[in-house]
Amino acid sequence: MEKAIALKNFSYQYPDGTKALSNINLSVEHHRRVALIGPNGAGKSTLLLAVPGFIKGDGQIFVDGIHVRKKNLKKIRSIIASCFENPEDQLFMPTLFDDVAFGPLNLGLSPEQVKKRVEDTLKKVGLSNMADKAPHHLSAGQKRAAAIATVLSMEPKIITLDEPDGNLDPRNRKNLTNLLMELTQTLIIATCNMDFAAEIAQRAILVDKGQIIADDDTEKIMKNSSLMNEHGLEVPKKFI
Ligand SMILES: Nc1ncnc2c1ncn2[C@@H]1O[C@H](COP(=O)(O)OP(=O)(O)OP(=O)(O)O)[C@@H](O)[C@H]1O
Ligand SMILES: [Mg+2]
Repeated sequence: MEKAIALKNFSYQYPDGTKALSNINLSVEHHRRVALIGPNGAGKSTLLLAVPGFIKGDGQIFVDGIHVRKKNLKKIRSIIASCFENPEDQLFMPTLFDDVAFGPLNLGLSPEQVKKRVEDTLKKVGLSNMADKAPHHLSAGQKRAAAIATVLSMEPKIITLDEPDGNLDPRNRKNLTNLLMELTQTLIIATCNMDFAAEIAQRAILVDKGQIIADDDTEKIMKNSSLMNEHGLEVPKKFI
């Protein structure tokens, strides 16, 4: 079976010359929950932008066995959906309902199916009573949940989430944890919150200065306090 994602000797340099990723090699099996951890500026978000082809670097990336390149992007984007670091990059319609409906409508679902998808998804993220609200009027935590809903409503095979726990209060973070744990899709989650990562991910990939430092079972990496400290991270409560 094809890997959910695979990167081969992938490097990326921003136009200003910043080398954000150097020679990344990794693959993720389907149906796994993987945390991408590392300090600020490590390259986590860059990696999550590169995988679905939002930025183009050197080396090769495959999503579900399909080479990420211009001619395949439409297909790729039907397989993998990304929840961006900044929720406002994801919310652009007049109402929350429209934003969450956007993906399913593009997938060609009927209006009834779309309505059901949107209602179910908004319920899952705790925003059922906000469907008619303008997304830019939501609170920061509500925007985060809304952005996650726009991705979940598409029911993609692979989901990347960049700091999905940002701005969430403890109850909503717990709800998000439970929600992500119930999903059977492949999840790749970038986060600086080690407690959150430790709850969700079976595997952790530690990135720093654009390189993969460690890639192993979450527990094995996170219990290594000297490794964690060396890269500006803390051992989560669960493993102390
Ligand atoms: N648009 C850009 N132009 C130039 N450099 C950038 C750009 N975006 C990010 N960088 C740089 O690339 C490197 C990796 O950034 P990236 O956003 O991937 O880090 P990150 O691991 O997601 O960090 P954080 O935890 O703060 O979100 C950093 O040195 C950053 O300054
Ligand atoms: Mg980031």
